[in-house]
Amino acid sequence: MLFDSHAHLDAPEFDGDREELFEKLVTEGDISYVVNPGVNLETSKHAIELAQKYPWLYAAVGFYPQETGDLDEDMLFLLEGLAKKEKVVAIGEIGLDYYWETVPHDVQQYWFRRQIQLAVRLGMPIAIHDREAHGDVMRILREEKAFENTKVLMHCYSGSAELARQYLKLGCYFSIAGPVTYKNVKKAPEVIAAIPLDHMCIETDSPYLTPTPFRGKRNDPSLIRYTAEKIAELKGVSYEEVAEATCETAKRFYGIE
Ligand code: NI
Repeated sequence: MLFDSHAHLDAPEFDGDREELFEKLVTEGDISYVVNPGVNLETSKHAIELAQKYPWLYAAVGFYPQETGDLDEDMLFLLEGLAKKEKVVAIGEIGLDYYWETVPHDVQQYWFRRQIQLAVRLGMPIAIHDREAHGDVMRILREEKAFENTKVLMHCYSGSAELARQYLKLGCYFSIAGPVTYKNVKKAPEVIAAIPLDHMCIETDSPYLTPTPFRGKRNDPSLIRYTAEKIAELKGVSYEEVAEATCETAKRFYGIE
């Protein structure tokens, strides 16, 4: 039983074979649940449509940092409407991205704050995208009292073990993706050791971040077992234990019974 806590199954990469893939996931795989986050209004709507069609699929809604360049109040209002729909379990993915210098940092930060405030007001958990913006993400989450008022998940966690320990003290959750299987990710063993399974989720971030040995191909939730296997190896526990514990953690985080 595996829970893919973050997969963009609405992405155009799946348009050609989505139905067959979904059929295969539930009949042949051990996938129990998937959460599909949006990155703007259109993808959030698509994620909700899919989630309402498939019982094992849930949606999150949000504006990804690179989608905040021309955001306005009306669009935020529309997002709030989407957040209240059936099968929507979180606000995400939202955050800061200083790798792609397409949207000014102050603009990203403003809309990140506004979406945290929305999540807190609606009592919904938050899925965070943090790329090369560790200091500002932590500062803004603390200033907005996100940890006190809701649950926070660091999607595709890429920080250090030390930062993970700081986040854990605040009650934060983490989601580990395919890069944990890459040879060049040197800090992976230390990071995996620092995060207990009751605060760890796993994800594919499909169609991106395909784990070894399928790196370079399209990712899909069936490949999440390679990430779970690597975590089991690094933690010195069984694959079944990682699968079951991360599934329970994700259900608790997203509030899925
Ligand atoms: Ni993503």
